[in-house]
Amino acid sequence: MSAVITEQSQVDEATPAPEAATGIREGAFGNATGLSCRECGHGVELGPFYACPECFGPLEIAYDFPAVTREEIEAGPANIWRYKALLPVPTDIEQSPNMEPGFTRLLKARNLGRELGIDNLWVKDDSTNPTNSFKDRVVACALSAATEFGSKVFACPSTGNLANAVAAAGARAGIKTVVFIPSNLETPKQVNSAVFTESLVAVNGNYDDVNKLASEIAGEEDGWAFVNVNVRPYYAEGSKTLGYEIAEQLGWRLPDQIVIPVASGSQLTKVHKAFQELIKLGLVEDKPYKVFGAQATGCSPVSVAYKAGVDAIRPVKPDTIAKSLAIGNPADGIYVLDICRETGGAVEDITDDEVREGIVLLARTEGIFTETAGGTTVGVLKKLVETGQLDTTLETVVINTGHGLKTLDAVSGIVGPTATIEPSYAAFVAAGIA
Ligand SMILES: Cc1ncc(COP(=O)(O)O)c(C=O)c1O
Ligand SMILES: [Zn+2]
Repeated sequence: MSAVITEQSQVDEATPAPEAATGIREGAFGNATGLSCRECGHGVELGPFYACPECFGPLEIAYDFPAVTREEIEAGPANIWRYKALLPVPTDIEQSPNMEPGFTRLLKARNLGRELGIDNLWVKDDSTNPTNSFKDRVVACALSAATEFGSKVFACPSTGNLANAVAAAGARAGIKTVVFIPSNLETPKQVNSAVFTESLVAVNGNYDDVNKLASEIAGEEDGWAFVNVNVRPYYAEGSKTLGYEIAEQLGWRLPDQIVIPVASGSQLTKVHKAFQELIKLGLVEDKPYKVFGAQATGCSPVSVAYKAGVDAIRPVKPDTIAKSLAIGNPADGIYVLDICRETGGAVEDITDDEVREGIVLLARTEGIFTETAGGTTVGVLKKLVETGQLDTTLETVVINTGHGLKTLDAVSGIVGPTATIEPSYAAFVAAGIA
């Protein structure tokens, strides 16, 4: 695998960036030393760049980490900035207006565990972030980068949650936002963006069309920071904080198994990167863990490749209610395959009906209302148990990445009033509810 921390932590030969990244203040990116190509290891100076000038591979942040102790982290704020030494952000990041996401609950899921026959199960509930998805984490890091680069527009192509997070964070930071979404997106996700921004652009096409348009605009317009396009290396690092938190909340320990939803695949690769960094920094004990990816069958290019035993991912046209996961051409799909295979995990997919069942199962067992992405993850967890791919005796974490109030339609047809009765005790008794 090309993705272990030891290969990424240094930029050996920093060559000048494609265009000189001038005017960056000292310490703007903390302990980051440069950008490094994930494919060929080529080094590039820090700047708003995302593709390797040598091989067009994705650029990632390279660091020279100082010694970091558990105590220093624990003394930090109850948000992602407690890990600022491990992120491409300045040491004074808490002073800038931002959404302060993270440090969400890690809940022991006894009821869900009992239902599925898993002895030791946890839910990392990221639906309680400021705009109710894990995207607030990545956006906070992208906002810092955009600010340091002096960008005038903060933008993104999005399957919904990212647009919500960008629009809100931009409003708080006082920077103009423009967010692009597929025009068939759920109404709550549209409103949750439109309320924060004057520029919500609905594009007649799927996410992959929207993403292509964003790349074109990023190439043509000056001063636009597309969080998941030209500042993607900085953005993606935000997902590492999910991994750091899980380890810290388990008492500075890695779980044995973790189940993560996959759209572009960025989050899964970064949780793995976080675990590797914690091991390398001596903050957790080195131990094996298995990473599992979750997709909906109607958009499952990574799961299809995994099951076929091939390395290449064939793009698909998404057709699923799990719209937040509907990326048919996932940028980090091949790295997800690497990680899931190397750690002994798997990638699995489930039908839309199973996604709905997953939402209701988590709600009825743990009192957590997840969106379709979480329904996918919980449904895949169930399928992994049923198919013998997950070891039910091992400590397992499942990530809930978003909130069910944003995808009400997904379950409004299968849950609702049990009975409609007249306001009398007799009618109540007759309904047979007691
Ligand atoms: C709620 C939710 N979960 C998971 C994901 C998947 O993230 P990634 O693209 O990093 O795989 C998304 C992406 O939009 C999302 O909105
Ligand atoms: Zn390269």
